[in-house]
Order: sequence, then structure tokens, then C-alpha cells
Amino acid sequence: MYNLLSQQDKLVVVTGSNSGTGKEAARRLAGAGAQVIMAVRSLSKGHGARKEILAQYPDARLDVRHLDVADLSSVRAFAETLLTENRPLNILVNNAGVMAPPERLVSVDGFELQFATNFLGPFSLTLRLLPLLRAAKEGRIATMSSSVAAVGTIRYKDLQRERHYVPYLAYAQSKLADLLFAQQLARVANQRGWNLMSNAAHPGFTRTNLLTAGASLGRGHQRPAWLTNLMFLASQGVGPGSEPLLYAATSPDALSGAYYGPGRLFGLVGPTTLVRVPRSARHDGDGARLWQVAEELTGVALSDA
Ligand SMILES: NC(=O)c1ccc[n+]([C@@H]2O[C@H](COP(=O)([O-])OP(=O)(O)OC[C@H]3O[C@@H](n4cnc5c(N)ncnc54)[C@H](OP(=O)(O)O)[C@@H]3O)[C@@H](O)[C@H]2O)c1
Repeated sequence: MYNLLSQQDKLVVVTGSNSGTGKEAARRLAGAGAQVIMAVRSLSKGHGARKEILAQYPDARLDVRHLDVADLSSVRAFAETLLTENRPLNILVNNAGVMAPPERLVSVDGFELQFATNFLGPFSLTLRLLPLLRAAKEGRIATMSSSVAAVGTIRYKDLQRERHYVPYLAYAQSKLADLLFAQQLARVANQRGWNLMSNAAHPGFTRTNLLTAGASLGRGHQRPAWLTNLMFLASQGVGPGSEPLLYAATSPDALSGAYYGPGRLFGLVGPTTLVRVPRSARHDGDGARLWQVAEELTGVALSDA
């Protein structure tokens, strides 16, 4: 088990922290002394998760706030409140995500839902919070990708998957985008001489709501048989599943631009290790190109930060 060092005096934001790896990350971080802002789209679910964590850690400092990462106006409102409070932000954990809705859905801003939730929202949130992250002694951003990023392509001619929607390919695109973004941010920080770490993680195959409510968005869709079989063969609980993300977000040994995931059974389970970045995410130019497109789509640019 990854031994989380004391996070006393740290302010942390964890998106999607009412369930799965986000809730577990919030629990471990709060248990280690961090003040955790649980950024959730459902306040009632967020308060439920907070109560559970408090049952274990009665002194945990947990602040539940509304954030719908798929809605750029919600991202702006959430970030503006934090900017007004003006406290240095030590760690941003971009964890919230949705996987493979069976039909193509769009966000309130008109983007394909997975691209909006898994990438454009975290992109705009991160850029908006950069002043606070840079104000911390060593700000850190850990972004959750997925091993399926390896089979993803960024289809610039049909980014919103309007022409041809294949649920898991659209998911793979959004998770490849996360990986490209995390690495590009590390490059930007390095080029600008910022004391800021950006890296990525994936949880292997972890048993969470993503495989049930996540895939159907709560509409009772059956998960595919191959997913059920894989879950039976090689999957892990949320404790080990959250460790790559926690390692990326907190370990003194973690590296900027790196990618962490489980080390056994083709990366599906096991202890955290440094993961080889897939070929599709290795070129600097790809990260820069995607960044530019994301700035255009979200209206949030680096120069604003
Ligand atoms: N489980 C795996 O094997 C696996 C594998 C690869 C990558 N991942 C990634 O791990 C991350 C966490 O997923 P999980 O497995 O822990 O699944 P989960 O239990 O379904 O958690 C996903 C979290 O994201 C939140 N969320 C979804 N859309 C949101 C939005 N628009 N705004 C704010 N929050 C939103 C969900 O909130 P609600 O409860 O309100 O829906 C939930 O708290 C995701 O990025 C996922 O892509 C998971």
C-alpha cells in the first residue's frame, strides 16, 4: 500500500469525490491531514460521502462544493469562488469522469459529453486555477487518464464525434486528451520556470460506479459482457485503484510529465508503477495542438492564467 505522507496544511481539490477513486482519494488525503474541497455535481451525494469519511476521520477537513465539470459556466463559477478566497492551492486532482454512454450525448455547451466531462472541463478548471496552484510552494495537478488512452485517437475532423459515435472510442479519445494535456502542462510549466508539477495516472481496472451507473448514466443499460468477464478475471478494489492517482498527486518521488498506473496483469491491477506513455501520446506537437483547440473551445487561454 502506498504510504501517504502527512498532507497537513495542504489545500486540495478533488473532482468527482463523491464516489469511486475520487472519494477514496479524498478520504486518504483528508486522513493525512489535508483540507479537501470535494468538488461534486450532486451536493447530496457529496455530503453523503463526506459523512462516510467523517465516520472514519472525525477531524477531517472536508468542504463539499458544487462543480459540474461538463458545464463550463459551473467550472468558471467554482474557480471564481476559489480565486476570490485567494488561498494557495497545493493539489488539484482531476478525477471526475464518465465512460461510454451508449448513445452520443452532449453537454450544455454542445460538446460530446465524454470530451466535455473528461477533458474540456478539467482543462478549463486547471487553467483557471493556475494562479492559485502557482501561489503554492509546489503546486501539483494529477489528472486521471485510462489505459484505453492507448487505443485512442484525437479525431480533429470530428472531435465531437458527430459523424460516427462509438462509445468506447469516444471515451478513449477523451482519456488520450487527458494524457496529452497532463504532459503538455508539464512542458509549459518547465518552459516558463514554474514550480508546478503535472502528471497523469490510471487506475487499471477498478470496481466503481463507472462500470454501472457511469456507463449508462443511471439509465439501466447493461454493461457489455466482455467488461463483466474482465471484471471477474482481473479487477481491483477502490483502495489499490486510487493509489496511482494518489502517488501522482502527492509522492515526493513522482515526476512531472510522468504517468502512473498499476504494475501487474497488463496494468489492470497491482501496486503503482511508472507506466510507459502510449505511442499516441508521445509527441510534443500533439499536446500543443490539442491545447490550442481546447483554448478555442473553452474560451480559456493560458495567457489569462
Ligand atoms: N474504474 C476504472 O476501472 C477506471 C479505469 C480507467 C479510468 N477511470 C477513470 O477514473 C475516474 C474516476 O472514475 P471511477 O472509476 O471512480 O467512477 P465513478 O465511481 O463513477 O466516479 C466518477 C465520479 O465522477 C463524477 N462526475 C461525472 N460527471 C461529472 C460532472 N459532469 N461533474 C462533476 N463530477 C462528475 C461522478 O459523479 P456522480 O456520482 O454524480 O455521477 C463520480 O463522482 C474517471 O475519470 C474515470 O474515467 C476509471
